[in-house]
Order: sequence, then C-alpha cells, then structure tokens
Amino acid sequence: MIIEWNLDFPLESSVLSLMQIAADQTLHAEGIRFPCCATVRICKDDAIRALNNTYRGLDRATDVLSFPSVPWKAGTTARHHPERLRREYDEVLGACFLGDVVISWDHVLSQAKEYGHSPRREAAYLLVHSLCHLMGYDHIREEEKQIMRNMEEEVLRKAGVSRDESAPAIPDEELLNLAREAMTRSYSPYSHYPVGAALLAKDGRIFLGCNIENASFGATICAERTAMVKAVSEGAREFEAIAIATKDTPGWPCGICRQFMSEFAPDLRVIVTWGDGAHTEESTLGVILPHQFELET
Ligand code: THU
Repeated sequence: MIIEWNLDFPLESSVLSLMQIAADQTLHAEGIRFPCCATVRICKDDAIRALNNTYRGLDRATDVLSFPSVPWKAGTTARHHPERLRREYDEVLGACFLGDVVISWDHVLSQAKEYGHSPRREAAYLLVHSLCHLMGYDHIREEEKQIMRNMEEEVLRKAGVSRDESAPAIPDEELLNLAREAMTRSYSPYSHYPVGAALLAKDGRIFLGCNIENASFGATICAERTAMVKAVSEGAREFEAIAIATKDTPGWPCGICRQFMSEFAPDLRVIVTWGDGAHTEESTLGVILPHQFELET
C-alpha cells in the first residue's frame, strides 16, 4: 500500500511503521493484489474540526475522517470489484487511488488512554477503520457493522496488534504473509528472481524488504539487507526472526546477508517460504552461519 503521508507535526517512526503494516494487512485481508494508494493526514483537533465542518456540516472534532475516491456499489467492497481497481489505475501514482484519510492525533492520545493501549495501536486501528471505509465497508446497518468489525479485528491481529499488547507477537504465518507481500515490490528486472523479507524486531516492529537490483549487478541489495538496513536506521537493533519469501525455490540468505545479519542477531530465527506458501522451512543464523566472524577488539 502506497501511503502519501501529510503530517502536521513530526511523529515517531515506530508509529508510522505500524500504520504502514496495518495498511498493507488491510489490502491483504481484502485479497487485493493490486497496488493501491491513499493519502493520510495526521493533524490536531482544530484542523479535523474545520474539515468536519466543511465536508459534513458538523462543527466538532472527531477521531478520523475518510474520503473514499472510488464509489463502490452499496453493500459491496473492493474485493468484489477487481476490474474496477484496474480501471481506477493512475499511471502517475502507479496505483489505484482509494481516497484520503484524516486522523486527529489528539483523539489518538485520548482514546489510547481510555482503552489502555498505546497511541501507535490506536493510530493503527483508526487507519484500518478508515481504509475499510475507502474500500466500501460501512457500519450503519447492524449486519454491515459486524462484517466491518470482523475485518478490522482480522487485520489488527495480522499486523501483530492484538487488543492485549502483552499477547505473543505476530504468528509466523503472518510474518510469512508479510514477506510474500514485500516480494511483490521486488525490483528484479535482471535476475527475475523476486525476494521478500519481513524482519521482526524485539520491540514488535516489523520491517519489510525486497531485493533491489541494479544495472551494475554488483550494487544489487538483497531483501534481507534491505529490511535490516531499514530497521537499524529506524533505531531497532534487536531482532527475533526473519521471514523470507521466494517464488519457486527456497531462498535461504546468501553469504553476505548471513554475515550482515549476524552483526545484530547471531541467533536470529530464519524462516523461508516458497511456492505460494506450500513450503516452509526454518533454521537459525547460528546454524546456517557457524563459526561466525567477530572482530576481537
Ligand atoms: N537475493 C536476495 O534478495 N537475498 C539473498 O539472500 C540471495 C539473493 C536476490 C539478489 C538478486 O536480486 C536475486 O536474488 C538473484 O540473485
């Protein structure tokens, strides 16, 4: 999911990365394999109040506003209209534009406090709720409401954000799904060998990566290192597991990636999946990179 962020003030990257995962999982749960895009503005109560007044005639602040761009037929959602998504494809964006989301950070903070969970969880929830609206979900009629709630619950569970934040982190199958999702963004015009990776940090954040090739060949970056470079540059240094997805053959990490990852996580769990999830194998970095090099200092 391509999100164009409009932040009225800076936010911690851990908030945005969880929201990105939640957005990816929303599309995944809807069964959309087509690139989609939305704008997400995060503002204060006064700004959302003004928008609420302008567009809905309600002169009060609210937690989230959704402005769908695709007029889905009542009672149906994006999953029922794959052809519509293709028709809405915007060449400039390289995606189908689903609409605009506005979230009030003041409401995120107060609702997180009220429900006893973290602001990042509340922000992820509001984004999922809003993206569901952009995909045609509604909660006016009771039966629609239940369908939308079930969808939100499924997405939050898959994004590793259960109601109970002390609950075990994301299940392996979901980490593998995220690696498959990341694989779709691989840039591999030379090898035609797409790879996706989902790296789970100890603090619960998940960093996705894909292989990014280069005409010089040597400048190619593997999926695992893309994920770990993103993670370390966002402040994560401790890791639990990495899931790696490839198409037809198992994508065990190459030697450079093994060495690179051993710097931060010598015992990292490594789970590989290939062939549409039909095959999965697991090992650890300690096993696949024995006698690890360490610099004596
Ligand atoms: N590749 C990875 O992404 N990870 C690995 O550990 C091995 C190889 C990528 C690099 C290149 O784009 C393609 O797979 C073929 O080597």
